[in-house]
Amino acid sequence: MSRCLITGVAGFIGSHLSEALLDQGHEVVGLDCFVPYYGRTVKEANMASSQAHNRFTFHETDLRSGDLHSVLQGCEVIFHLAAMPGLMKSWSDFQLYSSCNVEGTQRLLDAARDEKIEHFIHVSTSSVYGKEATEPEDSPLKPFSPYGITKLAAEQLCRAYAANFDVPITILRYFSVYGPRQRPDMAYHILIRALLNGEPFTLYGDGEQTRSNTYYSDCVAATRLAFERRDRAIGETFNVGGGEILSLNEVIRLLEEITGRSIVPDRRPARPGDQKHTAANIDKARRILGYEPITRVKEGLKAQVEWQTELMKKA
Ligand SMILES: NC(=O)c1ccc[n+]([C@@H]2O[C@H](COP(=O)([O-])OP(=O)(O)OC[C@H]3O[C@@H](n4cnc5c(N)ncnc54)[C@H](O)[C@@H]3O)[C@@H](O)[C@H]2O)c1
Repeated sequence: MSRCLITGVAGFIGSHLSEALLDQGHEVVGLDCFVPYYGRTVKEANMASSQAHNRFTFHETDLRSGDLHSVLQGCEVIFHLAAMPGLMKSWSDFQLYSSCNVEGTQRLLDAARDEKIEHFIHVSTSSVYGKEATEPEDSPLKPFSPYGITKLAAEQLCRAYAANFDVPITILRYFSVYGPRQRPDMAYHILIRALLNGEPFTLYGDGEQTRSNTYYSDCVAATRLAFERRDRAIGETFNVGGGEILSLNEVIRLLEEITGRSIVPDRRPARPGDQKHTAANIDKARRILGYEPITRVKEGLKAQVEWQTELMKKA
């Protein structure tokens, strides 16, 4: 069993990954600084079940300023998920994105090198590809938003630390993750909230933009596979996506069917930086890691609707 550091452990995906690793018998050291992009209470709730576990320890530490060497004591592997996500805010607060996503990653890589970490799994995004993200991992990267640019810079830092100091890196590019605990700024969360509250939904663009729809547990499974098959994963970059590509209009129809309600669209033009088509090419993850996404979008959306319904009852 390994001692694993998860950065961004209070976030949407990090909290699920933590539970999965604890379930497998690993020890989890969690790090987060509760960046107020969304509420601290939401993040504390994400982390609650991990915190109740005796193999979990938590450090409220900022990657940009904290003592990372002491957090890393005894850790074999790092799952680096902490970042400022979401692209719209990256136009108006670039400093926050560059400091968390680039400087934070650089400080963590420095500490990982000094502490001789055995595996550094860096979580990146389809946004590094640009407006269209449909190609294999070795395709040209043309990020289209400040968020994507900072995430690509972080990837390149990882490669520089691997090439110069042999830091054992794997890069995972996640594609549109959804399901319970999805961040409140994400489209499906906003869409479901609008449906449940009978409020209008602001629809940017024509709704024909497509997404890869990765259910959180498939994303966690791919991340675990990268960790378990480190002999094959080190030095590699993998796309991590779901198996079903749907347009936003198709997702709206599915959610209307699931909730029995109709959306009232407030139509606006596409926003700067919005991706048009993402369709994860996961051939490499299939071939090298044995990854296979299993959750159908309808099933995953139902689970997210149930979770948000419960959230609203508690509010
Ligand atoms: N959610 C998606 O669809 C998606 C898609 C592609 C890539 N990703 C990537 O996955 C990772 C997790 O995303 P998420 O949706 O769970 O986001 P999230 O915002 O829910 O989680 C990120 C966590 O990182 C923490 N954090 C940020 N900066 C930090 C810092 N300087 N020090 C310590 N903690 C810090 C935040 O407080 C937050 O709890 C990110 O790297 C993101 O870029 C997510």
